[in-house]
Amino acid sequence: MTVERKFSHIEVCLNRNVEFDEKSTGFEDVELIHNALPELDLDEISTEVDFMGFRLKAPIIISGMTGGCEASAKINEALAVAARELGIGMGVGSQRAALENSELAYTFSIARKVAPDIFLIANLGAAQFSMGFGVEEALRAVEMIDANALAVHLNSLHEAVQPEGEPKFKGVLAKLKELSSSLSVPVIAKETGAGISMEIAPLIEGAGVKCVDVGGAGGTSWAAVEYHRALAVGDELHASLAKLYWNWGIPTAISICEVRSSSKLEIIATGGIRSGLDAAKAIALGASVVGIALPLLRPAFEEGSSGVIRYLKRFIEELKVAMFLVGAKSISELREVPVVITGSTAEWLRLRGVDVEAYARRTKIFK
Ligand SMILES: Cc1cc2nc3c(=O)[nH]c(=O)nc-3n(C[C@H](O)[C@H](O)[C@H](O)COP(=O)(O)O)c2cc1C
Repeated sequence: MTVERKFSHIEVCLNRNVEFDEKSTGFEDVELIHNALPELDLDEISTEVDFMGFRLKAPIIISGMTGGCEASAKINEALAVAARELGIGMGVGSQRAALENSELAYTFSIARKVAPDIFLIANLGAAQFSMGFGVEEALRAVEMIDANALAVHLNSLHEAVQPEGEPKFKGVLAKLKELSSSLSVPVIAKETGAGISMEIAPLIEGAGVKCVDVGGAGGTSWAAVEYHRALAVGDELHASLAKLYWNWGIPTAISICEVRSSSKLEIIATGGIRSGLDAAKAIALGASVVGIALPLLRPAFEEGSSGVIRYLKRFIEELKVAMFLVGAKSISELREVPVVITGSTAEWLRLRGVDVEAYARRTKIFK
């Protein structure tokens, strides 16, 4: 059943509108200040970054999407080859199916096989840990792909609205703590489209987790995915639940600021990152790197690694131009540039006590 579900997720994401339609990431309210005298040449700009002990050539992680069926082995292979060629990181999708049936392990381990040296992230769901998974299953997932980190996905919205969902989240924080102290690789707490708030980030940090993937609102909506799936099988209850929560969540730009203001966690900014300019804004707000999922699915599925590489090369050029225009020669300089936040994003942040003026004047922002 897990295998069939994985394939139907891919099909729906390829063929339907699955993005937020009444809410955005908030990046349209975020402006970087143009620097008319950057005193550098575009070709001097370096996008290299140190992230969780790895040197990445660009601050990009291909977000965990798939595994568990034949089609997803091909997708993971294409994504991993692209990550290898571009020197960036990658996550695989939930490995639960392969823990249940070891014959499916190759659909994940293909990524490590074709890209022996990339920063590769294993993936399991929080609900599984709430329902009995522990260190042993986590170790098996990490070993399956010789992973450099384990992402535990926090997808309460998805579990609550999907027909075969398991909305069980009791005890997850304690499991995060146990995993952080027992595994030899770092743990990443990963939302999948509803964002992480300033209240939750310190709890995650306190559990010994080193990094959050904010997985904010504005990109792929898992409620939207489940709406289409429920409709297709005539499940009216779940279709209406999923429609109601289609636009639920903390926008990505806001989630970065909330997490940054309340913790020292490394941040992967995922959720609706659709251009190198979005990436530049996310990093200037405090993200370490960005994550991209949906835009890479079609090129990986239809064209293989060449399509993924073409998309990401353009994305990296867009990021470099943003860095040139703000006069940032490196990713660490980009983290220091002033950012003006206006509109409803600023209103939200002010109400929540985040110092928007400090971003604009680049005074003290970080905890
Ligand atoms: C087809 C597809 C499958 C996904 N499967 C997983 C998964 O198994 N585990 C997970 O943590 N996130 C999963 N995600 C969520 C992504 O990693 C990402 O957090 C989310 O899609 C937001 O990024 P985006 O707006 O760039 O798509 C999936 C996303 C897509 C599009």
